[in-house]
Amino acid sequence: MTAASLPRSSVTPTDLSITPRDRRFGRDEATPRWWHGGNPYASALYNALSATFPEGEAFFVESVRKHRDGVDPRLAGEIKAFTTQEVIHSREHLAFNRRAADAGYDLAKLEAKVHERLELTKTRPPIASLAATMALEHFTAILAHELLADPRHLAGADPATADLWRWHAAEEIEHKGVAYDTWLHATRHWPRAKRWKVKAKVMLFVTRNFIVDRTAGALELLRQDGITGPRAVAGVLWHAWINPGMFRKIFAAWASFFGPGFHPWNEDDRALIAHYERSGEFIAAEPARKVRSAS
Ligand SMILES: [Fe+2]
Ligand SMILES: [Fe+2]
Repeated sequence: MTAASLPRSSVTPTDLSITPRDRRFGRDEATPRWWHGGNPYASALYNALSATFPEGEAFFVESVRKHRDGVDPRLAGEIKAFTTQEVIHSREHLAFNRRAADAGYDLAKLEAKVHERLELTKTRPPIASLAATMALEHFTAILAHELLADPRHLAGADPATADLWRWHAAEEIEHKGVAYDTWLHATRHWPRAKRWKVKAKVMLFVTRNFIVDRTAGALELLRQDGITGPRAVAGVLWHAWINPGMFRKIFAAWASFFGPGFHPWNEDDRALIAHYERSGEFIAAEPARKVRSAS
């Protein structure tokens, strides 16, 4: 029986294939300090997000894998592919973060904040970590959708770095249902009302932390650039909320999470992945190495 012919109860497309693309970005040259078109605010926001990935994605993987017992074979295979993708994302963002350090930034404070948040979550029962992962994976997937759907988000950016973000976004879309389906499995015996209450509460909590922490992280990096006070705050808020306004533009997709019958694959946006794969950056990339699947 092939994976595609296995029965499944979630709305994840039956012909979905999660394919780790083992690529490396920007290894050969230094990344400019303000790699995002010379814009310190945009660079700071993306750098603040990148600082969260190595530890954050390891946490996602750990949280999902703790709940894989008893999942159907198809989801088990998707969890493996998700794990492999996230491990490679962590590797590439670690390399990117090193280049940001080489350009003069100290990410220690930002990384410490991520560590503090995750350690606190780990003191709760494992289902809390899975709930946080499921909510953050939706958050990441809608950011990824917006990033690929509107080229203005990376307009003028250093090509290798823009490619890193597009590659990561494509794979985030591809595995967006994995944490959610694992959550559906882990809470299958819960009453619907309890499931909704917990997931809504967790989403509100992680959204608040995400916005506050990434904004504070960007402001810290701008402080290291010598940009402080109202100028720094206005620059970050303008980029994040107004133009190009990523946070504003994901609002409807974010709100859909609270609706009845929500599932990340209610919107099939694989066309964005296909479009990315047809793009010059993907085609010009070195042939993908053979990926050893996670066990
Ligand atoms: Fe990722
Ligand atoms: Fe992810």
